[in-house]
Amino acid sequence: MPRESAMSIETSTSTSANVAEVDIFDPRWWVDGPPHELFARLRAEAPVHWYQNPDGTGYWSVFRHADIHRISHDSETFSSARGGVYINPDQVVPLDVMRTMMLVMDPPQHTRYRKILAKVFTPASVAKLEEGIRARVTRTIDKFIETGSCDFVSDVAVPIPLGVLMELMGVPEDDMQTWFDWTERIEKAVRVSESSAALDVFGEMGGYLAQQIERQTTEAVEDSLVMRLRNAEVDGEQLNELEIVAVFGLLAFAGNDTTRNTTATGLLTLLNHPEALQELYADPSLLPGAIEEILRWTTVVQWFARTATRDVEVGGKAIAEGDKIVMWYGSGSRDEAVFADADTFDIHRPKPDHQAFGGGGRHFCLGASLARLELRVTFEEILRRMKDIELAGTPELVPSHWAHGLSAMPIRFTPGPRLGLDD
Ligand code: HEM
Repeated sequence: MPRESAMSIETSTSTSANVAEVDIFDPRWWVDGPPHELFARLRAEAPVHWYQNPDGTGYWSVFRHADIHRISHDSETFSSARGGVYINPDQVVPLDVMRTMMLVMDPPQHTRYRKILAKVFTPASVAKLEEGIRARVTRTIDKFIETGSCDFVSDVAVPIPLGVLMELMGVPEDDMQTWFDWTERIEKAVRVSESSAALDVFGEMGGYLAQQIERQTTEAVEDSLVMRLRNAEVDGEQLNELEIVAVFGLLAFAGNDTTRNTTATGLLTLLNHPEALQELYADPSLLPGAIEEILRWTTVVQWFARTATRDVEVGGKAIAEGDKIVMWYGSGSRDEAVFADADTFDIHRPKPDHQAFGGGGRHFCLGASLARLELRVTFEEILRRMKDIELAGTPELVPSHWAHGLSAMPIRFTPGPRLGLDD
């Protein structure tokens, strides 16, 4: 999203900036991660905010939890299909390609996809994955545990969600490096708006997945996501091969980096709040609550956009048909109108209504229960096997205003007992 800012951040800070003129996408606001002080000022002073680019185009931003909730629940007025993910519809890949993914669909097409996929991601079918996920986490930690150190991102946060996804799809684990490279290339293409690079990846992924679908059909592989999607029926209709490929493209994009980033920034948050970490070592049954607070605190998907389908008022501002609206989930998850002491990390917060999985409504994260399960099992095994964790170097932030994540985090620890599944 290369654009010149209308103001100089070198001479402005989150407390002195003229919020009316702020271009929140300017990378200089994001050098230290999400700009929470600025978000707080925007929630208070310009909660529905217009930014005009030098070329005359512009976009709205909404920062309050309630406005994000409202927009997310009204897909008739706030369309995804007219440009739901990014501000410029063709920014990363052409909108027509994006529209093959359900994140960028409106009803009734979205409803059909969602019904088919929801059958696969029911809480009951997700719960059955726990044992396999625990075995995977155990194997992953086994690889480095004796050394008492690791790079938490590449050794833990990356392989676990990617491996879970590949296992779900029924594709060979030997292909993990290929998948990793694809996700890195997509992440980079999204970050620097390199549409040809993203299209190359989608092309390669499509070819690979078509082969896998053919192989699994021939071998009658049982119970893989591919086969369940192939056989799932809604109103007598099934997904065709191209549609299944698009679903996997979406899962690789939506289900992978997100879980990785929450795992990595989640551990960093706990290291920055040692009293919470000690409580969890003493009583791991606090983990489900702690994970909700980690989700709220890190809210790794900072924003998604929608397009207005008619003139509409939000927060007293007149939004015109065709205008782009960016929902800042990272801000909604810290909204003081919803969370007492919103800037305090509190693992005892009762069921925080965070917006890490979006603002609710039709597009609410379909993988939320799977993500929660992966995070709980991963942190249970970390607490069990890695004691006295401390940073062994400076964590490296992914330079992005969209994904809040880490690209590296060296840690050291005292190895704990292995009480995994195989014992
Ligand atoms: C901590 C991890 C995760 C986070 C923070 C996250 C976040 C999100 C967000 C913010 C949205 C958009 C919601 C909206 O537009 O209203 C979304 C949608 C989605 N997510 Fe996740 N996600 C995570 C994990 C997963 C996993 C593990 C999967 C599946 C393997 C997944 C699959 C999806 C799908 C399919 C959608 C599109 C739903 C639709 O358009 O109806 N996500 N996610």
